[in-house]
Formats: sequence, C-alpha cells, structure tokens
Amino acid sequence: DMGGHDTYMHKEIHEQADAVDRVLRGRIDDRFSTVHLGGLNLDAREARQIRRVKILGCGTSYHAGMIGAQMIEELARIPADAEPASEFRYRNAVVDPDTLYVAVSQSGETYDVLAAVQELKRKGARVLGVVNVVGSAIAREADGGVYVHAGPEVCVVSTKCFTNTTVAFALLALHLGRTRDLSVRDGKRIIEGLRRLPEQITEILKQEEEIKALAEEYAAARSMLFIGRVRGYPVAREASLKLKEVSYIHAEAYPASELKHGPLALIEPALPTVAIVPDDDLLEKNRAAMEEIKARSGKILAVAHQDQEKADQTIVVPKNEDELDPILMGIPLQLLAYHTALALGRDIDKPRNLAKSVTVE
Ligand code: M6R
Repeated sequence: DMGGHDTYMHKEIHEQADAVDRVLRGRIDDRFSTVHLGGLNLDAREARQIRRVKILGCGTSYHAGMIGAQMIEELARIPADAEPASEFRYRNAVVDPDTLYVAVSQSGETYDVLAAVQELKRKGARVLGVVNVVGSAIAREADGGVYVHAGPEVCVVSTKCFTNTTVAFALLALHLGRTRDLSVRDGKRIIEGLRRLPEQITEILKQEEEIKALAEEYAAARSMLFIGRVRGYPVAREASLKLKEVSYIHAEAYPASELKHGPLALIEPALPTVAIVPDDDLLEKNRAAMEEIKARSGKILAVAHQDQEKADQTIVVPKNEDELDPILMGIPLQLLAYHTALALGRDIDKPRNLAKSVTVE
C-alpha cells in the first residue's frame, strides 16, 4: 500500500519524521542524560574496556556506518572506523579481542555482512548488529545490538532506513559516551538535538517543490560531483550513491580536501558539484573549496545551514548539534535523486540490475 504516493521511494522519504520518532521512543533516559538500549548485551564494565570500534556494512548501510564511526569517536572518544563488509571478509583482517565489531544492515540478510559476522564470531570477537529487520539472519547471529525501527522498506533504494540507522548510531555513541567520559552537559545537548530531529525533517521535506525544480535542471547532467569533508563526506558518498542508483546519472563523491589532488582537473560548466557545507569548524575550508570550483566555472549546489554566496544555489537545512548534522543533510538529496529519476522516467522502486537484498556472494 503506497498510501497515496506514486512510488515506495516517495512514501518512504516522507515517512522519515515518524521513523525517527520510533527509533528514539522509550530509549531516552533524562535522569542520567543517556539512552537505554535493551538488546545491547554489553555491560558498563565491558563498554569501558573497548579499545576500538570497527563497523561493517555494504552500500548505504556502509555509509551510515561511516557516520556512526565519526559519532562514536566524537562522543565516546573510542577510535572507530567503517569498512565495506565485502572487503573486510576477504582480507584476512586481524581480529582483535578489544575491538567491538558492529555489523550494519537494513535487511539483516546481506551475504557479505553475514559472512563477515560468522567469521568474526568463529574467531571469538564480539559483534553487535545495527539492523532493521527484526529476527533476520544478522540480528540472530550477532551477540546483541540496536534495532533501527525504520519499519518495512520496500523501495530497492534505501532512504528512511539510512536516516534511522544514523540515529541508531547516535544512540549507541551517546550510550558508549555516557558510560565512559562524555559529560552530563554534552549528554543533555545531544538528547535535545535528537528530540529536535523529527520536526526538522518535516521542515526539510516542505522544500520538495524547490528541490524538484532543481532536479529538473540537473537531470540534463551526464555526471555530477559530490563533495564534503569530515562530517559532510559520508553524506556526499550516500547522496552520490542515491543519484546513481535511481537516476543512472554517473556521480562521484570526493572529500573536498582532496579536490586539488586530482579531481579539480574535471571541473567545467558541464560537471555540476553538490557541496555539503555544514555550519561547523570547517565552514571556511568548505567555502574555499567552493571558490576553487567557481574559479573554474563549475556550477555548485550547496546543502548548508545558511545561504552560500559561493554557490549558485543553496538548499538550506535546519541546524542541529554539530555531531548530529549528518543525519539531516542527506535528506534533501534523497529528494533530488528522486525527482531527477522521475524527470528521466526511471523505474524508481526497482532500478535496473539491483535487488533489495543481496543474499549471494
Ligand atoms: O540490507 P542491507 O542494508 O545490508 O543492504 C546493503 C546494500 O545492498 C544496500 O544498502 C544497497 O546499497 C541499496 N540499494 C542502497 O540504496
């Protein structure tokens, strides 16, 4: 049932405020400025002994994991990184007893992720799941975890599950942080930020008509570049994947800081750039990158917290706490991908060559 929408993708994009509400529900503990995650199976002593966090997932879930790794480093001060599960399982990685492994998957059935989890467990590692589908193979195989509670996602192209997974990671990061050395003050600040998310998502989705007009303009592009740095980079990666999957326009994501090491050679009027420009410590650096692009007659669409004069157009999104900004900044770009695909007459819910869950090698 599409509930009045023409595609599941459109429906799922518009379900995000409710979905985020669900992942937060019943988990916030105001007394201790933390969150309760019932199924984690990790006591405080164990949480304090973790030396590293390694996050494994594929596709969009990998991108959500990249955001999660940054949140865990920032809030819990534990070194953390994300890697495609499909790479990890083939490189005979060193399995370390003091590392917490986290497997991320919407379906809970992705074979590369499941195989990585099984290999890790065989070697005695502790593995948590950040999974959407309750009782799925990865959820069953993991030692514990956090359910994402996005609800059923039908469109092959993941949208609401991505957003909810990033929120689930914020909860995990806050929980680990408050069990370790994150202050009460910062805990409160993050909780307040989390509570603002659903309303801010609704606000972003109200800009759909404007974004649709932009999409109709960009649908003529043969290729697009997505840039961001630190918090903005995984957002750029995910936005680039969304556009490719659903519109078949070639897109590439790059850290803004790496532009001068190669991709600047590509800049010309026919290659538009989407720049993720959060209002954080790196704002000036991002402005400088946009200037480099402008100087070479590149066209720029910015996603930012205030109008960017270096950009040709800006989609303004509401500001949250710095650590939580990545949760929101990709949402307008889901709509951009959607409307670009619509303008090009693509099969939005079932892009060619793709399957909703990849249960084979
Ligand atoms: O079910 P999973 O989250 O494990 O799926 C992983 C990827 O196959 C998935 O995210 C894929 O990249 C989607 N088509 C993204 O829109």
